[in-house]
Amino acid sequence: MEKEKVVIIGANSFQNPLILKAKEKGYETHVFAWASGDVGEKTADYFYPISITEKDEILEKCKEIKPSAVCSIASDLAVITVNYLADKLGLVGNDPAYSTICTNKYEMRKAFKENGVKVPQFIHVQENEKYDISSFEFPIIVKPTDRSGSRGVTKVEKIEDLDAAIKNSIGYSFEKKAIVEEYIDGPEYSCECISYKGKHNFLTVTKKYTTGAPHFIETAHKQPSDLTDEQIEKVKEEVFKGLDSLHVEYGPSHSEFKVDKNGDIRIIEIGARMGGDCIGSDLVKISTGYDFIDLTLDVALGKELKLEKVVEPKIAFIKFIFSKEDLDKMNEIKEKHNELIYFISEITDLEHDIVDSSSRFGYYILRLDNEEQLKELELV
Ligand SMILES: Nc1ncnc2c1ncn2[C@@H]1O[C@H](COP(=O)(O)OP(=O)(O)OP(=O)(O)O)[C@@H](O)[C@H]1O
Ligand SMILES: [Mg+2]
Repeated sequence: MEKEKVVIIGANSFQNPLILKAKEKGYETHVFAWASGDVGEKTADYFYPISITEKDEILEKCKEIKPSAVCSIASDLAVITVNYLADKLGLVGNDPAYSTICTNKYEMRKAFKENGVKVPQFIHVQENEKYDISSFEFPIIVKPTDRSGSRGVTKVEKIEDLDAAIKNSIGYSFEKKAIVEEYIDGPEYSCECISYKGKHNFLTVTKKYTTGAPHFIETAHKQPSDLTDEQIEKVKEEVFKGLDSLHVEYGPSHSEFKVDKNGDIRIIEIGARMGGDCIGSDLVKISTGYDFIDLTLDVALGKELKLEKVVEPKIAFIKFIFSKEDLDKMNEIKEKHNELIYFISEITDLEHDIVDSSSRFGYYILRLDNEEQLKELELV
């Protein structure tokens, strides 16, 4: 019998677990991405060296492939293409009419505001355009409208620094636009969900550790978070409202938020995809027992969502390497508590400057039985 086929958009290491999962489940994988030596080029059954932004070229190939699903897990650019293809091929996906509000930070803020999701004050800025921030209070956040990985994100404390920050953000932006918004103070988290037929299923909350101002590069993530059940109920309410306002009906989502000084949940942004940094691909499975990638594939295949635990839930922690000290710590854990190590990535030179999340030196993932172990290792 001919194998059912799954089209996967993107071939880098973030998408690879999806390719492997689809193969493990007996599907024939057809992977599209710009050829650049990424791991998925080799792991795919069929690889097509076509950039993920070439929607129509990919569509033509898909018409020949006749896949049962089109899927991707961790990139906003891929989300746009997946929605487009699923719609054209009559497969399960989110409506492409809403791809822009799901991927452009300015359009997303507008959609949130229109739907009663609490947003900070925000404006749009482009090159050589005057802007008025007279009603804003400092600090202010400036970021490109359409990038990720904290590229071009700056916290600005005083007016003299604003122009340079805007210029920097616009420089990073694909569409050469930036968003300027009020800074929301408080600890930062993300909420991981999976939706099916418009119903959102809460999976977990991730606690995020960052370098802080000015660039907020992630240093670690932990699941479950330190939020109380009562707080989690508030998170669900606000996040589900956010997902509804973006018309997210199917698939994984990653909603970044802060808890402000009044205890309110303040959404920073929502990705209609899994969280990067191994949050979706590894941490969710470790901490909830659900196979998030498997569930995502099932949703894309139009299968009824069945939330069943496949492993015993534990504590999941990912630590990024920023220095020689971090690396020494990792080696010490490996030596003394090797049973806690779930994964170690490749580690780069330790020499260059870390300016955004893609320039971090590497990472390791731990799977622990209790919080005490993390404290003993002095990781939190
Ligand atoms: N309005 C805000 N108030 C406070 N902090 C903010 C605000 N906007 C962004 N940040 C901080 O900057 C980080 C990056 O912002 P944002 O998520 O919008 O950019 P990004 O490039 O998509 O980053 P990432 O891919 O890491 O999520 C946030 O995780 C948060 O720490
Ligand atoms: Mg973000």
